[in-house]
Amino acid sequence: MKILLASRNAGKLREFGELLQGVEFLAWPADAPDIPEEGAFFQDNALQKATFARDWWRRHGTSPVDGVLSDDSGLCVDALWGGPGVLSARFAPGLAQDAKNRRLLALMPPGAARSARFVCVLAWAPMDGDPVTFGGSVEGHLAPEPRGSQGFGYDPLFVPEGYGQTFGELSSAVKQTLSHRSRASRAFLEAVR
Ligand code: IMP
Repeated sequence: MKILLASRNAGKLREFGELLQGVEFLAWPADAPDIPEEGAFFQDNALQKATFARDWWRRHGTSPVDGVLSDDSGLCVDALWGGPGVLSARFAPGLAQDAKNRRLLALMPPGAARSARFVCVLAWAPMDGDPVTFGGSVEGHLAPEPRGSQGFGYDPLFVPEGYGQTFGELSSAVKQTLSHRSRASRAFLEAVR
């Protein structure tokens, strides 16, 4: 199976390579336009990304693919009313990720519950059919300080339920057994099989 990934996020690309072994991935080309994400929900954004990338590939693609896979994901913190959520990629623009992580922790009201979840919605847009979506989430809580250098994004902040270490400290093998992206990817694989 040959899939165009509608993303330039290196962390996501690496994880999809690990999660969907046996699939041949094409990354979104460097000279292609930025993929819009203007929706209010993870699902809107995932569908917008997949259909935009598929339309573009139909006109400019350099080799045939079976379809386009997109990922819209983020960290939803209960004490921040679900934020940064769908805006996770756009939170605190201009700051490096470590500074974003610290900014997010600084927004936590003192004494508030630290429960949070990662959410991922994948959209699969086959070249010859209607797009479909698959979701996954993982519950956990925010660590008091960013910890660890594995993974990407908000991983150093997030301690998954049942563990004492953050996704930044846990190996990628452990993250892949329980992450939001791995759960959505499993649903996608079951559907396309
Ligand atoms: P988007 O899906 O392009 O809107 O970007 C999602 C953003 O959420 C990423 O840029 C990361 O900051 C964050 N994010 C999504 N999934 C993960 C993850 O598995 N670990 C850490 N951060 C994530």
